[in-house]
Amino acid sequence: MEIQEHISLSAYNTFGIDVKARYFVSVTTLDELQAVLALEGYGKPFVIGGGSNMLLTQDIDCLVIHLNLKGITIISPLSSEQTVVLEVAAGENWHEFVMYCVDRDYGGVENLSLIPGNVGTSPIQNIGAYGVELKDVFHSCLALDRTTLQLREFTLNECAFGYRDSVFKNELKDQYIITAVRFALSRKDHKIQTTYGAIADTLAAAHITSPGIKEVSKAVIAIRQSKLPDPAVLGNSGSFFKNPVVDQTTFDTLSASFPDVPFYPVGQNKIKIPAGWLIEQAGFKGKRFGDAGVHDKQALVLVNHGNASGQEIWELALKIQAKVASIFGITIIPEVNVF
Ligand code: EPU
Repeated sequence: MEIQEHISLSAYNTFGIDVKARYFVSVTTLDELQAVLALEGYGKPFVIGGGSNMLLTQDIDCLVIHLNLKGITIISPLSSEQTVVLEVAAGENWHEFVMYCVDRDYGGVENLSLIPGNVGTSPIQNIGAYGVELKDVFHSCLALDRTTLQLREFTLNECAFGYRDSVFKNELKDQYIITAVRFALSRKDHKIQTTYGAIADTLAAAHITSPGIKEVSKAVIAIRQSKLPDPAVLGNSGSFFKNPVVDQTTFDTLSASFPDVPFYPVGQNKIKIPAGWLIEQAGFKGKRFGDAGVHDKQALVLVNHGNASGQEIWELALKIQAKVASIFGITIIPEVNVF
């Protein structure tokens, strides 16, 4: 374990933004993490996992801790004939973990194939796609208290998961570092979920009538590849904004002026509107301002065409936010963490 100085973070964030860490250390064990957190004189540490949900707009003038804890283990006492409980270290790549499950026919995460990032950050924003959210397969997680250095377990209820939201983004923000996540996955009688729009169509086009986990995963991968840019090719952080949720009255006013607005009811008197549609209607889809741009196949994704600075991408985000607000009267809120 070596503390380095003035390290570029471009390889550690999927936007590929070239800002520098004053100090940088990569930790591979819990002991190393505890030792680093106990160090004095480096200020409040900045923890980075897969770097897939952040926009870095400036140099990080403190110690950056790269969480590189690895390992997947079956927790036998918690598992049964029906369910397997896996404990997955925070530094495992999310998609590689999904492929591990698909290969062994463990069901529950196949709809979450190809999401960038690491396992440790998945509970923070309750990642989700194609009708499934992390909370649906979450058993518990282990997290280190940054101040006391004690390891604590969090149950499903304690995480208070919501749409791209959890206790780790709210009451407990910056207080804990998630070191491992436990997933409860099915060993048989899998709940195959194909109702989310494009999955059923993709399977039908391939003449697959009774899909298993592998087929669903393949379909999701094909759909994502068709509209979401690969961060290794074009820097991005997935959806930049959350889909706004409005009340019925606001929706009625909006749909009177814009009858084509797509929407999804998400509870009593609550309607979710795709931010991608709002941004496309506002004229930004496929637009480019220097190296900062809006993806041409999915307007919710901001991209770095090469050498955009975090500041340039942030200015574009603010421009989009202001235009959407002026046209539709709705303020869209970033989903990514901006530093
Ligand atoms: N739409 C447009 N133009 C666009 C993009 C979308 O009009 O450029 C409209 C279309 O009507 C489309 C609807 O928006 O039918 C929904 O689009 P899509 O199915 O692509 O989903 P999304 O709501 O834009 C969300 C998640 C994605 C996730 C997909 C699929 C959020 C913020 N984003 O996007 O998650 O992959 O659903 O489940 O909830 C991420 O969080 O990084 C992410 C990629």
